[in-house]
Amino acid sequence: MSTNAKQRERREAAEKSLLDLIARFESEETAIEVNFRNLVNSEGGGGKSAHAIHPYPAKLLVNIPQFFLAALPPLTGSVLLDPFCGSGTVLYEGALAGLRLVGSDSNPLARLITKAKLTPLDREEARSHLEHVMAVYPLLPPTIPDVVNRDYWFSERISEGLGRLKTAIERNVPSKYRPVFDVSFSATVRRVSYADPRLSVPVKINPDRSAKYGAKGDEVIRRLARLAEIDVGAVFWSIASQNIQRCPEKGQWFVPGQPEIFSDARSLGIAEASVSLAITSPPYVGAQKYVRASGLSLGWLGLTPNCKLRPIEQQSIGREHLAADETLEPSGTGVAEADRLLEEIAERNPLRARIAQRYLLEMRDALSELSRTMCHDGSLVLVVGPNLVAGLEFPTPSYLQKMAESLGFATQLHLIDSIDSRGLMTKRNRTAGMIQQESVFLLKRVRTIA
Ligand SMILES: C[S@@+](CC[C@H](N)C(=O)[O-])C[C@H]1O[C@@H](n2cnc3c(N)ncnc32)[C@H](O)[C@@H]1O
Repeated sequence: MSTNAKQRERREAAEKSLLDLIARFESEETAIEVNFRNLVNSEGGGGKSAHAIHPYPAKLLVNIPQFFLAALPPLTGSVLLDPFCGSGTVLYEGALAGLRLVGSDSNPLARLITKAKLTPLDREEARSHLEHVMAVYPLLPPTIPDVVNRDYWFSERISEGLGRLKTAIERNVPSKYRPVFDVSFSATVRRVSYADPRLSVPVKINPDRSAKYGAKGDEVIRRLARLAEIDVGAVFWSIASQNIQRCPEKGQWFVPGQPEIFSDARSLGIAEASVSLAITSPPYVGAQKYVRASGLSLGWLGLTPNCKLRPIEQQSIGREHLAADETLEPSGTGVAEADRLLEEIAERNPLRARIAQRYLLEMRDALSELSRTMCHDGSLVLVVGPNLVAGLEFPTPSYLQKMAESLGFATQLHLIDSIDSRGLMTKRNRTAGMIQQESVFLLKRVRTIA
């Protein structure tokens, strides 16, 4: 069967599944459990695809955008938006579908990974830049940024190797090829650090605690021994060669216009009613630490002013560090159930109540920006899971759904997808729970807000 015929078949199957699900949702009036892995066979989600160029916490299951892009195909050239684009899972799939792309993320590392995934390469040329970097880097002086606690995370020999690679990339790689080189450098930084590779947020491997590492303990400790001799250049070469192969090739797709990637979902520099489809998975309340998970890379890449993470954290929705003046808003969130639960949380733990309320207020601003930018009848796919706040179940999905409905969206479908692991879920003193089931809402932009 030709590729076109296969695509048509896939689209027809997805359209039919979606119509059946909507009909069932209308008659049963309750969320429907599905397994997106069965709903659509993922194409190109494995280690060889662009999605594998760099790890990122809580990446979206690729089957979700693949299903909705097949079932709700926007006209070629219309705009696909992901305001919390993370590592660009949705936007890359949108590029394959030939859509105009708009995204945003407050984490500069997320924006870099997205850019690398969306920049088609001349692979031959990219490989020749890589060979050149490999030839010159050992002779160049190291550029070593003031990464916070650098000596704690890297031996002096490794820092020097990374520093020479950094100089070689900065001096020799043309801007068009920088995203794939920088992303590969970032993945190298993490690989050669003392951070436990099984965790998203860096935690130093401690050989005295090998018993605590369970079945994988020996492997983790062996890794520590390998780090003493590791060849930083060889690690970089291996990652960069694979990434050059994974990134899109020049001429592989036609994406109208340049992708636009902003830094704050609450303020997108695009016109009103210009988006026909948005697919997004927003951050979780207090459960994700995207910025800290990216800390070593942000420092080495110089993506944060003076290597400080706080300015980036301050822009992140769901953050745990609040400014002193970010107190509980007496006027509430606009969702009565949420305000009642926040009062209960405040009695147990006032700080957790402030964090959760701030999250909802900032998500309301982001949803309001989505409402402004989406066109009439446009579709919004919102993927969001519940968690525990101060030991109480915090039903983020239903709160965000209610907010969206008050901002001009109507719920067409509510699905529940079980997730095995999205990484970086925190279990804080048993009061912040693991997110196990995600809600996937299909909402339609229906009316103008006064
Ligand atoms: C669940 S993750 C998205 C993961 C993404 N779908 C992927 O597959 O990689 C949520 C993202 O929201 C971002 N974020 C937090 N606050 C933001 C803000 N104010 N504006 C834009 N993005 C923000 C975080 O940095 C994080 O990358």
